[in-house]
Amino acid sequence: MIVQRLREIQNRFGFLPDAELKKLALDSGVPLYRIEEVSSFFPAFKLERTNPPQIEMRVCRDMTCHLRGAADLLDEENGLPAVARALSDETGKTVCVEGVSCLGRCDRAPAVWVEKLNMPEGEHAWVYTKKTQEQLAGILSAVARDEDPPPADSDETYAAHTNENRPYSVPVKDPADEHPPLAAPGWSLDVYGRQRWPRDYRAVKRFTDYLKNLARPLLAPPKELGGKDLEAYVQRWHPMLWELKTANLLGMGGAGAPAYQKWLDVWRAPGTEKYIVCNGDESEPGTFKDREILLRMPHLVVEGVILAGIMTGATAGYIYIRHEYHEQIHAVREEIERAVRIGACGEDVFGTGRAFTVEAFESPGGYICGEQSALIEAMEDKRGQPRNRPPELTTNGLRDKPTVVNNVETLAWAPGIVLFGGDKYEMGGWRLQPPATVKLGGRRLFSVSGDVAKPGVYEVAVGLPLRELLEGKKYCGGIVNGALRAVATSGPSGGLLPARIPIDKTLDDKKRADVVKRIGERSAADAAYMEWFLKTFVPMGTTHIDLLDVPLDLTFYRNMESTFKLPVEPMLGAALVVYAGNVDILDQAVNFTEFYRNESCGKCVPCRLGSQKLVQIGTDLMARRDAGKPVTDPSAKTDIEQITKTLKLTSICGLGYVAPFPLATAMAYFAADFQKKPT
Ligand code: SF4
Ligand code: FES
Repeated sequence: MIVQRLREIQNRFGFLPDAELKKLALDSGVPLYRIEEVSSFFPAFKLERTNPPQIEMRVCRDMTCHLRGAADLLDEENGLPAVARALSDETGKTVCVEGVSCLGRCDRAPAVWVEKLNMPEGEHAWVYTKKTQEQLAGILSAVARDEDPPPADSDETYAAHTNENRPYSVPVKDPADEHPPLAAPGWSLDVYGRQRWPRDYRAVKRFTDYLKNLARPLLAPPKELGGKDLEAYVQRWHPMLWELKTANLLGMGGAGAPAYQKWLDVWRAPGTEKYIVCNGDESEPGTFKDREILLRMPHLVVEGVILAGIMTGATAGYIYIRHEYHEQIHAVREEIERAVRIGACGEDVFGTGRAFTVEAFESPGGYICGEQSALIEAMEDKRGQPRNRPPELTTNGLRDKPTVVNNVETLAWAPGIVLFGGDKYEMGGWRLQPPATVKLGGRRLFSVSGDVAKPGVYEVAVGLPLRELLEGKKYCGGIVNGALRAVATSGPSGGLLPARIPIDKTLDDKKRADVVKRIGERSAADAAYMEWFLKTFVPMGTTHIDLLDVPLDLTFYRNMESTFKLPVEPMLGAALVVYAGNVDILDQAVNFTEFYRNESCGKCVPCRLGSQKLVQIGTDLMARRDAGKPVTDPSAKTDIEQITKTLKLTSICGLGYVAPFPLATAMAYFAADFQKKPT
């Protein structure tokens, strides 16, 4: 794969020398213009003709890092760029400081990435977290003067905050371990750690034993089978796949698509060339849970990929990891080697005669590559731009073949579901006592950062009220820096929800009954939960709901807009960023919007121009407010509404769809911040 070769070259030289690109074209037979097309698309690739700096410090400028003063660090006059200029003059080297999108260390904001040309052998870059400007200036100065910089803040040595009742423990070592396994939090997710089992791929073994004992080969269901007949077929012949259905395991990457459906579709798709791709791009600001899974439980991810592969009839799996997670890439590569050694993958998976290979793929970089079709494009050595769909990836994915693309966490849950059954996973959901019948299913991880006592990664029962996660002693331990003001419940994607959400004041009995009926047509459990929520937290005449009462459940969030007549669709992702005290919401919303502007891939003109226009609107509003001349006419609101409509209609992917949400939610819920900066 060309992208991987480019990464290797950049890792070797610190940039992409022209001569190496020409050599690559000759060796691979790929025309140079195609190599140029790819290498110039990804900002992380540094081309020789752009004169890459000799020493570079990249400061994360997004969400939590912005909240923790990244803008000051990046200030041209008084921040680190001034230090870089002075060092350039003094040393004669090109030293540069610039902003970068989220580095996935939001729990230790601000996060900074430092690299120089010709890094020491085996080193990729140095990541520093939670440092003051003075400390960072010292680091930059040491690197510029060829002195040893202070040790980097590795993920391996940092024990991220996690559930207090699930402390870290070292997994059981087994004979195939060449290196001692890392301590891992005792989440339910970690089925091996919890059972004190060696990490011996027993879920894969369970399925391969099943295959070996079948009287006839496992055949995909006939094409014409559907509905209940199809379900009965899967239950009868592919019971472990059926467990995924029982579990109701939803994709953990944001969209929440049922994992069962993807696996079933690929299993049913004709052909023998099929792929599994694990999406470990994790570039949404505020998200860092996959960082911990990939580093501390790579065996679960590799096993999930193998399971998906042999259960759908695929022949190869790829674990696509963002390049800033170099410790994680290393851990996954070591784990794949271990899995091959014990026969869990490779040419003959546990003696079945079936081949399934697994490879780690180092991302060329860029938020948009987290979008599943853009990720596939990048893997095919093209510009990482989303595809128009249909066709879906389950029929026309990698190399135009049926492909399952699942998030890291989704795949990591699969071994436990295969070993213990889908109902065990489903039972892990939040239950109301009483009535115990009202419950939401499953468990999932959240990355929490910002104004909480213990930012970290927490495993929770789906449906746990937000209050419990943010204030509970065994989770984040409380809100700090003042009273809760807002929460970004899906990184920047859903904008900012206020601590008290204004709702439809005319929510009478009839409307409530209609809502519950409508939800009940899709799911009785969801309807029962909404009914209970309305009774408990929304007595007649209520004008607001308390955000902390809202359950951490994707379906509930999806029902909120229509039930409470919210101005903007609320979203729930894996990243929760908490804002307290007198935080300036307009400033945060502009920061979120800048992220979308910076990361738009440019394929759709309305997104490319609209995201810039949104930044301009937000920046103007803020400048006028700060100059004491706030905008009072509704034209900015109208502009945002028009851009929102256009982007909804014309965007190929979700980035364009959500880009207006930060400003739209800020305007809807925090109008006062547009008039006067909070103090
Ligand atoms: S919506 Fe934006 S990010 Fe998505 S494909 Fe279009 S230009 Fe690219
Ligand atoms: S590391 Fe800065 S927001 Fe994630």
